[in-house]
Amino acid sequence: TARDQLAALVARASVVLPFTGAGISTECGIPDFRSPGGLWTKNAPIGFDEFLASQAMRDEAWRRRFAMQSEFGAARPGRGHRALASLYRQGKAPAVITQNIDNLHQASGIEPEDVVELHGNTTYALCLSCARRYELVWVQERFVAEGHAPDCPDCGGHIKTATISFGQAMPEVEMRRAEALTLRCDLFLAIGSSLVVWPAAGFPLLAKRNGARLVILNREPTELDHAADLVVRADIGTVLETFVSS
Ligand code: OAD
Ligand code: ZN
Repeated sequence: TARDQLAALVARASVVLPFTGAGISTECGIPDFRSPGGLWTKNAPIGFDEFLASQAMRDEAWRRRFAMQSEFGAARPGRGHRALASLYRQGKAPAVITQNIDNLHQASGIEPEDVVELHGNTTYALCLSCARRYELVWVQERFVAEGHAPDCPDCGGHIKTATISFGQAMPEVEMRRAEALTLRCDLFLAIGSSLVVWPAAGFPLLAKRNGARLVILNREPTELDHAADLVVRADIGTVLETFVSS
């Protein structure tokens, strides 16, 4: 079966590099973006320019964020996260590259410096001008007290979750680290991503061009299935739980 083929590839590889998308977190109760019921099927994303353009947009962005916090704020790592943490502990996987912003790889026991977040992290906020960090509870308290999204008390800049919105620059350090990791793996595992969003989707192709095996594990067809050595079209938790070790 495809699952056995995956296990054989992992066993034979010396450096496995997992690369994850929203599909690894759906079993934790967090919806993905493009499946039926996914986030972008309910609300169009608020682009970076829109966020900057008006107080009303910033208020809307923060209202959505607070609503998500009450719905998914307590989510815990799933079988997929735990399996990747096991590969990491065994020294098979040096790090994980993720498009996810939910902090669940860190929560599964992977050291924060070994989680390369291409699209940032939604569990805290940053001032866009001075980069001071703010916790969500602080932002929410200010929002309630002032009736709108607060600006930075230090410099007056706008405060935004530490995520990358459409139209916002990619994080340079993370992009370089992801590239370096990609170039030294011999097995690249793309897990739970439709692989339509660039530049993130460039990493599976870079791995492939560099001679690594490419495995795509996803319930639905992805944009890059044609480039994969193995496509496993199945439920992530079910496939990966065989890799969970205590
Ligand atoms: P998508 O929603 O585009 O793709 C998630 C994929 O996971 C879908 O193809 C699902 O079929 C699959 N999936 C969901 N649950 C699964 C399960 N239990 N088992 C197997 N497959 C499952 O999410 P991403 O590819 O992560 O970026 O989206 C990429 C980027 O687009 C996100 O990081 C975000 C979004 O816009 C920004 O906002 C910048
Ligand atoms: Zn500031």
